[in-house]
Amino acid sequence: MNLVPIIAIDGPSASGKGSVAQRVAEAMGFHFLDSGALYRLTALAAGRRGINWDDEVGVAGVAVALDVVFEGEHVLLDGAEVAHAIRSEDIGVGASRVAALPAVRAALLERQRAFARMPGLVADGRDMGSVVFPDAALKVFLTASAEVRAERRYKQLAERGEEADLTAIADDLRARDERDRARAVAPLVQLPDARLLDTSKLGIDEAVAQVLAWWSEVRGAV
Ligand code: DC
Repeated sequence: MNLVPIIAIDGPSASGKGSVAQRVAEAMGFHFLDSGALYRLTALAAGRRGINWDDEVGVAGVAVALDVVFEGEHVLLDGAEVAHAIRSEDIGVGASRVAALPAVRAALLERQRAFARMPGLVADGRDMGSVVFPDAALKVFLTASAEVRAERRYKQLAERGEEADLTAIADDLRARDERDRARAVAPLVQLPDARLLDTSKLGIDEAVAQVLAWWSEVRGAV
């Protein structure tokens, strides 16, 4: 049993779970783990070292040795700012590719568990409730319809001034979902003990409020 209170939030790409998880962590004064960022950093670091995203041994070596620092909004890889670089569509695709490799997932496991510190942790990803923190006190499966997710990603990219094409984004999300759900290790699934939060028609404030309400319920029951 994990002594540190943990809220695990899993779900598909662009479901809004990153923003919700971060806001819940702020509201509770908990630590925050964006596990997708670790896969993105691994893809970026491997690419920079000329290691192919399908080279399992090579990429796992990069994952074990990742020199990364999270500081508020900043993400430093080998001492240099990469917060923006890891959010590109290309690195998102790379992250999904390296995340399908068992040795890479194993290499990142303890690094993720080390985020579990008092007073608590909100962890966001695909396998937070299933593999990394199976004892989490609250598990949420946060999703939204494919159309809503594609629109959200489109808006995000447009706000950043990046060129975006809605149809291409929708295709890309579908391919990534398929890879995340179909892979042999730690696929994205809604666990029987996870609560479903469909944000297709919910704003972020409402989604955050729902997670906080569930947390009060869970804590009250202990
Ligand atoms: O949440 P994200 O879009 O930043 O994640 C990037 C990729 O990393 C995504 O395609 C799936 C993978 N991922 C994973 O396999 N397991 C996690 N816990 C988090 C992300």
